[in-house]
Amino acid sequence: MRRTAALLSALLVSLSLLAAPATAQPPAQPPAQASAQTSAPSPRVTYDRHSVSVDGRRVLLWAGEFHYFRLPSPELWRDVLEKIKAAGFNGVSLYFHWGYHSPAPGRYDFTGVRDVDRLLRLTKELGLHVVARPGPYINAETTGGGLPAWLKNVPGRARSSDPGYTRAYREWLDRINPVIARHQHTRGGSVILYNAENEYAANTDPAYMEDIKKRARAAGIDVPITHNQCCDASWTPKWAEGEGAVDIPGVDDYPQGFNCRETDVWGVWGPGLTERLSEKAPAYAAEYQAGAIDQQNAGYDKCRELTGPAFMKVYYKSNLVASGATMFGYYMAFGGTNWGRLAQPNDVYTSYDYGAPITENRQLTAKYDEFRRQGYLATTVAPLTRTDPATAPASDDAAVHTESRANPDDGTRITLVRHPDRTTNADASANVTWKTATGTHTLPVRLKGRDAKLLLSDYAMGGQRLAVSTSELLTHTRPGGRDVAVLYGTEGVPGTTILRYASAPTVKVLEGEARASYAGGDLRLDYTHRGLTRVRITGGGRPPLLLMLGTEAEAARFWRVDGTLVRGTDLVRSARTAGTTADLRADTAKAGPVEVFAPVRRLRLNGRTLPARATPSGSLLATAPGPRPVRLPGLKGWRMAAGAPEADPAFDDSGWTVADRTTTVSPHKPKTLPVLYADDYGYHHGHVWYRGRFTATGDETTVKLNAITGRGGVYQVWLNGRPLGSAAGGEQKDADAPVNPDPGPGTFTIPSGLLEKGKEAVLSVLVENMGHNDDWTADDLRHKQPRGLVAAALPGSAAALTWRIQGARGDDRARGPLNTGGLHGERAGWHLPGHADRSWGRASWRVEPGVTWYRTTAGLNLPKDHDVPVVLRVRGGTGKYRALLFVNGWNMGEYVAGGVQRDFTLPAGVLRERGRNTLALAVVAQEPATVGSLSLEPVAVHRAAR
Ligand code: GAL
Repeated sequence: MRRTAALLSALLVSLSLLAAPATAQPPAQPPAQASAQTSAPSPRVTYDRHSVSVDGRRVLLWAGEFHYFRLPSPELWRDVLEKIKAAGFNGVSLYFHWGYHSPAPGRYDFTGVRDVDRLLRLTKELGLHVVARPGPYINAETTGGGLPAWLKNVPGRARSSDPGYTRAYREWLDRINPVIARHQHTRGGSVILYNAENEYAANTDPAYMEDIKKRARAAGIDVPITHNQCCDASWTPKWAEGEGAVDIPGVDDYPQGFNCRETDVWGVWGPGLTERLSEKAPAYAAEYQAGAIDQQNAGYDKCRELTGPAFMKVYYKSNLVASGATMFGYYMAFGGTNWGRLAQPNDVYTSYDYGAPITENRQLTAKYDEFRRQGYLATTVAPLTRTDPATAPASDDAAVHTESRANPDDGTRITLVRHPDRTTNADASANVTWKTATGTHTLPVRLKGRDAKLLLSDYAMGGQRLAVSTSELLTHTRPGGRDVAVLYGTEGVPGTTILRYASAPTVKVLEGEARASYAGGDLRLDYTHRGLTRVRITGGGRPPLLLMLGTEAEAARFWRVDGTLVRGTDLVRSARTAGTTADLRADTAKAGPVEVFAPVRRLRLNGRTLPARATPSGSLLATAPGPRPVRLPGLKGWRMAAGAPEADPAFDDSGWTVADRTTTVSPHKPKTLPVLYADDYGYHHGHVWYRGRFTATGDETTVKLNAITGRGGVYQVWLNGRPLGSAAGGEQKDADAPVNPDPGPGTFTIPSGLLEKGKEAVLSVLVENMGHNDDWTADDLRHKQPRGLVAAALPGSAAALTWRIQGARGDDRARGPLNTGGLHGERAGWHLPGHADRSWGRASWRVEPGVTWYRTTAGLNLPKDHDVPVVLRVRGGTGKYRALLFVNGWNMGEYVAGGVQRDFTLPAGVLRERGRNTLALAVVAQEPATVGSLSLEPVAVHRAAR
């Protein structure tokens, strides 16, 4: 992991060495629109120390991170973004991935799965604010940290103002900035913030930051510019002042760290409080931990546990009150898939599920429910956008800590109730005394285990006045002039809610149990959180109120979408009411009630009117149908073909690139010449083949090689067609700085009799590239580390080796450069649906060392009104091998025998849900192996409005 103690000290040293030289350019003047609360014409995005404002309205930005490049299916972008919206997020943070769009210098692609205009139009349609994060560097556990691999051949340190790098990144910004600019809120779009660079904390160069901002402004970016500082406010520079300073500096916080094997740790990286970096701008948690990378191969469900609801309650709720932060970017809302060669191999494998609230297969989890509970509150209670620290209600027991903020304009107070010791699991109770605007109330509160609560007082809840409640507010709406509010608490724990009235109102408990009493303007309701209690309150000088008091689980049955409150179904994607009709788009995993809290008489669900009845709660209730059973076909009829003709000495490699370079841009200098680095010959992704020739002298006994593959990669060797074995490819680790002298050694014994003195011999070497390392340290040592062979020798022999190299060929525009490498079958299109495989033999699953391809087809006919996420599952198998899994030509992952991942997500769009699908497997075996069996499996079956 990059944030090791060793790294930290290395970093401090390099920071002090770098003691910034004089600034290269004067700081750019902030444009009028980006300065504090100006009277610029609308539409506009402004900010002050409390919050951003959109057209003068303060916003509590509650954004989830989404990587479009990890979901190669634009039709599913809508699905995921609707799920993000339905969770209560009002925004998304979007990285834009330079390397994903640029296969070569000067070449950029923004079509198909790279159509970010389409993505930004969708965010606008769904009403989500966008924080646009185009880097140029993004980290994100993706290959090169988002830098294109061709940059490895460009002289000049990346992430600095070196001229070589400057020319390169300007190329990217000049393409992506106009796209972002035209989707800004100020031009009728969704983008409200622009993030410059990413955690720019090591080897920093203010002139570079300054230039990124300048280019953004020159391209017409007029929304505030932000930065996400690593990893808490102790890091410098913070880009809060001086050259390179941004309008709104934010911090990234990952308090739980990334060891998903230790799920009961608690804030290993400190409290994770969002700190204020500037007195002029809101406190901004630019990235706040909402999952984890699975560095220890624990499986992502463990990462979800590590960052589960208990963590979310304590840390997220604390952030709102402790710092008064009003801007959050939760990393990740949905992680997605490192399809093709998107992964940065040190940190991740094919899946980038991240243990996020929405799984890689687009399923909603317990974390999603907690996001919903907190997100609805955060985006319902407008006074939270402007708060100052306030006196907290006194707790009579030190075991219960209280902390408050209040809105200076209307007095709304929010109180955080938590254990003083965050790590405790105790069951603690206290009497807490609230001094509200209208009286003093001492009420019991209880924290069972790892928990925290946000309690409101003196809050104008629609047309009501909430004096205080020991239940948490989920949300409230105002359909047709009456108020509907949902509050919730811990199952079995008592709660009290006090509302203000001019005179005694009429209270009717419609369902469940609650005791009501009225005195001195206070209507007091006492109850225990159990199931869902419904109370109707009318009169008393206020509009009618339906108050629903439930458990946490009950709260999670509600959806507030498009301003409408709905109870039931597994996902409400949109809820529009027009006249007396409510139109819902919703998904169900089984039949069940659906209830709309709106003054309507007709309920349409996914376009069909359902029989419905009015309830005493003033809602409309119907039964939503469940899904039909769905069956997926078995995978049969596999054919196979041998896939490593390059190992045969007779193979014709005359068309291959001659590898004869003697210099390289990489800071890692080769130990033997010629330079054999794959990138130096333009082969950046996946496998590369080398063929070396020499005239045997008779002294050869071994072949000595060294290769860098990135973590988890292997390479294998043949001599005159005879397999000599395989070895693990190496990597450059931080601990090896500056350069690893012996990254991936392999010594291969030459069997006697294989070489004939005076005769030409052919060495064939297949090296995998697992992806490029990131550049978190901004020193080129990681991302410019080579891939492929880094040394080759015949110890004891005077024979000269000459080389040819071959990697990926061709230009697959739709799937892009990260989809394929240089395996023979990839070069020949064996992974593509159109390939004629009739001459292939019937499959046997026992393979010899080398490469073996398999193909079959499967027809699907999934119902259109259903959503059936499908995975390709690998079961069983023996021996050391790995398999690239292609579906309709798309490389949807790499199965590594013995690795943690056995299920590979096949997103609809890549997978034809109604039609014929071609599956192809490239098996690369290091030893005789038996390939596991493959099947298509449904992850879930939903009747859906996708
Ligand atoms: C942050 C970084 C992100 C991602 C995250 C860990 O520091 O900005 O891009 O790498 O860590 O998943």
